[in-house]
Amino acid sequence: MPDQPQRVTNRHLDYVAEHTSGDDEFIASLKRAALDAALPAIWAGVAQISLMQVVLRAAQAKTVVEIGTLAGSTAIALARALPQGGVVHTLEFSDRHADFAEAWVKKSDVAAKVRVIRGDARQTLKQFKDGTVDATFIDADKEGYQHYLEESHRILRTGGLVMVDNAFAFGQLFADVPEDSGVHYIRNFNKKMAADKRFHGVIVPLGDGCWVGVKVQA
Ligand code: DHB
Ligand code: MG
Repeated sequence: MPDQPQRVTNRHLDYVAEHTSGDDEFIASLKRAALDAALPAIWAGVAQISLMQVVLRAAQAKTVVEIGTLAGSTAIALARALPQGGVVHTLEFSDRHADFAEAWVKKSDVAAKVRVIRGDARQTLKQFKDGTVDATFIDADKEGYQHYLEESHRILRTGGLVMVDNAFAFGQLFADVPEDSGVHYIRNFNKKMAADKRFHGVIVPLGDGCWVGVKVQA
C-alpha cells in the first residue's frame, strides 16, 4: 500500500522540468553535436542533473567518480557543482565516446575539473584508494552495477554519496517481457540496494529513476 494517495502525474514531472534552469547554450550544443555524431541520446534529464548538483553542493563534494561518460554532458554539469580544486573523474569504456567527451570538456568552462579515464571501469576503478572519494555516479553497463556499487562503497568516505541512474530500467521496470537485457540486472540491483545496510538510499523518481544513497557504514 502506498503511504499517501497518488497525486503525482506526468504533468507534475513536466512541471518539475519546467521549473529547473535547464541546459545552457554550451550543453545544448554538445547534445546537438552528440546526436550528429550518432551517439545514443540517453543522457540524464535536466531535473535529475539539478538534483545531483544540489546533493553534491550539500555534501561539499570535491572528488567525484562517474562510471560511464558517454558524451560528457553529465560530467561537465557535475563539475560545475564542485568548489575550486574539485575534480570529476569520469570513466569510459568506448574510445569513441571518450574522444567526443574529451573534446567538449576541453572547450568547456570546467576543463580543469574533469578528467576522462579510458578503459574498463573494472580495471580503472582500482586506482582510487579506499575512503578517498566524496561521491560516485553509476551510469554504465547494467550488468556491472553490483560491482560498481561494491567499488563505490570501497572508495567512498563514510558520509559520501552514491548516485545510480536508470533505477526505472528505461521505462521497462514492470514489463512482463522486457526488450532490454539490462532490465533484469536493474531489478536485481534495486533489490540489493534497498536491502543494503551500508547505504541509506532512496530512489528519486526523476528522469529514469535515480538512486541517491549515503554511505553510513564502513
Ligand atoms: C540506456 C542506458 C542508460 O544509462 C540510460 O540512461 C538509458 C538507456 C540503455 O542502455 O539503453
Ligand atoms: Mg543512464
